[in-house]
Amino acid sequence: MKERKQMIDLRTTYMGLELKNPIVASASPLCDSVDKIRLLEDHGIAAVVLPSLFEEQLSVDSESVDADLARGAETFSESASFFPRAMNYNLGPYGYLELIRKAKESVSVPVIGSLNGVSPAGWIEYSRDIEQAGADAIELNIYSLVTNPARTALDVEKDYCGLVRAMRENLRIPIAVKISHFFSAIANFASHLDTSGANALVLFNRFYQPDLNIEQLEVVPSLTLSHPSELLLRLHWVAIIHGHIGADLAITGGVHSAEDVLKSMMVGARVAMMTSALLQYGVEHLDTVRTGVVQWMEEHEYESINQMHGSMNQRNVPDPAAYERANYMHVLSSYALSKRSLQPQGLVKMTHSESAD
Ligand SMILES: Cc1cc2nc3c(=O)[nH]c(=O)nc-3n(C[C@H](O)[C@H](O)[C@H](O)COP(=O)(O)O)c2cc1C
Repeated sequence: MKERKQMIDLRTTYMGLELKNPIVASASPLCDSVDKIRLLEDHGIAAVVLPSLFEEQLSVDSESVDADLARGAETFSESASFFPRAMNYNLGPYGYLELIRKAKESVSVPVIGSLNGVSPAGWIEYSRDIEQAGADAIELNIYSLVTNPARTALDVEKDYCGLVRAMRENLRIPIAVKISHFFSAIANFASHLDTSGANALVLFNRFYQPDLNIEQLEVVPSLTLSHPSELLLRLHWVAIIHGHIGADLAITGGVHSAEDVLKSMMVGARVAMMTSALLQYGVEHLDTVRTGVVQWMEEHEYESINQMHGSMNQRNVPDPAAYERANYMHVLSSYALSKRSLQPQGLVKMTHSESAD
C-alpha cells in the first residue's frame, strides 16, 4: 500500500513554476504573514498568493481610501469592499515588499504577489518592486465594477488587455490574471488576455454584493465564504476554454474537497485554489484534501495528475454538447419529471383547489 502511494505523482506546472501538487492558497489574509505561509507549507500547500495590494494604497492616503469606500466608488474591487480600512489590509505597500522578501527566505514554495488596480501607469512601478522583492509571479486582480452606462463591454475588455500588455512589457516574471465571470463572451475575452501576454487566467473572482440594512437604510458590506456549488461555474468555463489558449488555467471559487481538486484537474486547470474551505475548517484541511486526492487516484489507478489533466474538457468528453445549450432543455425537463408537484396530476389538483376557492 505504502509503495503504491509513493508512485502517485501529484506534480504540476503553473505558469512555468514547478509545483509539488496542484493545491494553491488563493489571495487572502491566510497568506499575510510569514508564519501563516510557513504553516500552509507545513500542511502541503504548493504555492501561495499573497493578499492583494490595492492601487489606491499606492496613490492616496488612507482617509481618501475610506471616503471612496463609503461612496462605493466605481473603481473598487471585490476585496476592498470587505475590508473597509484597506490601508491596513495587507501591511501596506512597504510591509508587502518586506513580506515577499521574508517569505522567499523562509519557505520553498512559490510566492505569488497580487495587485488590484485599474490604470496601467498607476501600478507598473509597484509591480516591478514586487518582482524585485523576489515574487515568483504576479496575479492581477483587475476586477472592477463598471457602473458608467456610457462604458461598453468592448471598452472594458480593451482596458484589461491593455493593462496586461503593459505589465508584460515591464515584467519578466509570469503574470496571472484573475477575472470575474461577468463578461458576455468569456472564451473570446480569455483568448485576448492570452495574446496580450497573460501566462495564466484565474477563474473566477467572487463578486461580493453589499446587503441592505432596512432599519438604518444603509448599504452594508457583506462577505460570505464560498459554497462548493460555486465550483460548477468554474468547471464549466475551464472545460470550454482549456485547449483553446496557451495560458494556464487556475480555478478559484468553491474548491472545498479532494473531489473538487480532481474535477478541476480533469476539466483542464493546472491548479485548484482554496481560501474559504481553509478559513472554515482550518489549514489542517489541506492534509485531508491531499490524502483524499492520492487515495482516489490509487483507487482509480491514476499515476499522475498530468494523466488526468484536461481529460474532461469539452473536446475530450464523449458528448461536448453537455457543456453547451443543447443540454439546457434536458436539464430542465429532468428536474420537472422528478418532482411530484410538477407532474401533470399535481398541476391538475392545484388548479382544482384554486378554482374551488
Ligand atoms: C477573507 C478573504 C479575503 C480575500 N482577499 C482577496 C484579495 O486580497 N485578493 C483577491 O484577489 N482575492 C481575495 N479573496 C478571494 C479569494 O482569493 C478567492 O478567490 C475566493 O474566496 C474564492 O475562493 P474560495 O471559494 O476558495 O474561497 C479573498 C477572499 C476572502 C474570503
